[in-house]
Amino acid sequence: MKLFDSQYFTYQNGEMFCEDLSVRTIAKEYGTPVYIYSKKFFTDKFTEFTNAFKDINHTIFFASKSNFNINVMKLFYDLGAGIDVNSGGELFRALKAGVDPKRMLLTGVGKTREEIKTGLELDIKIIKAESIQEVYTISEIAGQLGKTAEVALRVNPDVDAETHPYITTALAENKFGIDAKIAFDTYMECAKLPNIKLTGIDMHIGSQITKVSPFVEAVAKLNDLIEKLRNAGINIEHLDIGGGMGVTYNDETPFTPEQFADALIPLFEKSGCEIIFEPGRSLTANGGILLTETLYTKNNGVKNFIVVDGSMTDLLRPSIYGSYHHIQPTNLAETDDVIKADIVGPVCESGDFLAKNREIFKVNQGDLLAVMSAGAYGMTMASNYNARRRPPEILVDGDKHYVIRGRETYEHLLYDENIVEL
Ligand code: LLP
Repeated sequence: MKLFDSQYFTYQNGEMFCEDLSVRTIAKEYGTPVYIYSKKFFTDKFTEFTNAFKDINHTIFFASKSNFNINVMKLFYDLGAGIDVNSGGELFRALKAGVDPKRMLLTGVGKTREEIKTGLELDIKIIKAESIQEVYTISEIAGQLGKTAEVALRVNPDVDAETHPYITTALAENKFGIDAKIAFDTYMECAKLPNIKLTGIDMHIGSQITKVSPFVEAVAKLNDLIEKLRNAGINIEHLDIGGGMGVTYNDETPFTPEQFADALIPLFEKSGCEIIFEPGRSLTANGGILLTETLYTKNNGVKNFIVVDGSMTDLLRPSIYGSYHHIQPTNLAETDDVIKADIVGPVCESGDFLAKNREIFKVNQGDLLAVMSAGAYGMTMASNYNARRRPPEILVDGDKHYVIRGRETYEHLLYDENIVEL
């Protein structure tokens, strides 16, 4: 059985450690399921990324949708990142994390008037608009507030990011951004609006992209548009290429930050813009695991099932995208035979699985399993279905650990819900 290769989650004498702390000790103290993150991973990934682009004027805005714990946001912010927020809720979290709104981007295909107003009142750095109607709305609200909004338009460059259909975003058929064919005319129309300063151009072509070529193709298209806009008197100052840098979940071999930089820096230099990145997954996915305990094992005559206490409510990715996450024991000494099994949760849905037909060391009741690569789009997509409490999050730093969010209580599940007289 293949074990996930990581320098942050390692085996020492057959026992899994996160950095210098045995994950079993965390399970003992806080129970399961539990998210465990490596601080060193987050720090290293941020540093590798920003170093690769050190020769050009750039800023990394961490995409908080991938992991919105306020401590994780603060960690990246303290390292020099800004924060990309996609909703009033993420904005609120970023404020709680101590992030200066001037270091936030407000993104998203359907911002409400209230979200736009909040962003403007707080003087958020840039609002990314995704339709002409939205720009009209921003202009109107900025006028009411007596402000000038700094706006970038998200252009859909119509390139195929060659990723899962649910997370590709830059095909003409996708809902995101403004179609490349009408982008120039849209800029010209928006430039006439009061209370708007059009300073940027934005794209986000998809997520979990493992090849550099779709980025190159898209940036080249945007460079042409930037030139055309400049000739027409619209001075584009920043180029935001979004996020989407892929990671290894199974056997993918994504590009490295250096390969990314080699391919893109010449195009960035040509643009003459400040470059903005919005990475999420590449900074967090492989810095986290979901630790879960085996409740029961059974065989229904057709296949083996390992029923664990983690479920689709804790980690939704396998259920909705069929995503692969390595699942492996935390104690190698306890295991040697390999079986094939479905690893499933307690939720009353056949779609509640963490893995299907997976080769795994024979597991016994009570064994702990680590679901790898769970640091991105794990906790942020967790739900309370079946009135399950969302799991705690523990951040490990060397041999120390911090509870950065506790397990929800049953009382949390009833927040503001009361029996009314009918
Ligand atoms: N910027 C924008 C505008 C985005 O929409 C996204 C992700 C990002 C940045 C960050 O992309 P990343 O670097 O993380 O790929 N739930 C899915 C992923 C959805 C991504 C949505 N947008 C998953 O679990 O795979």
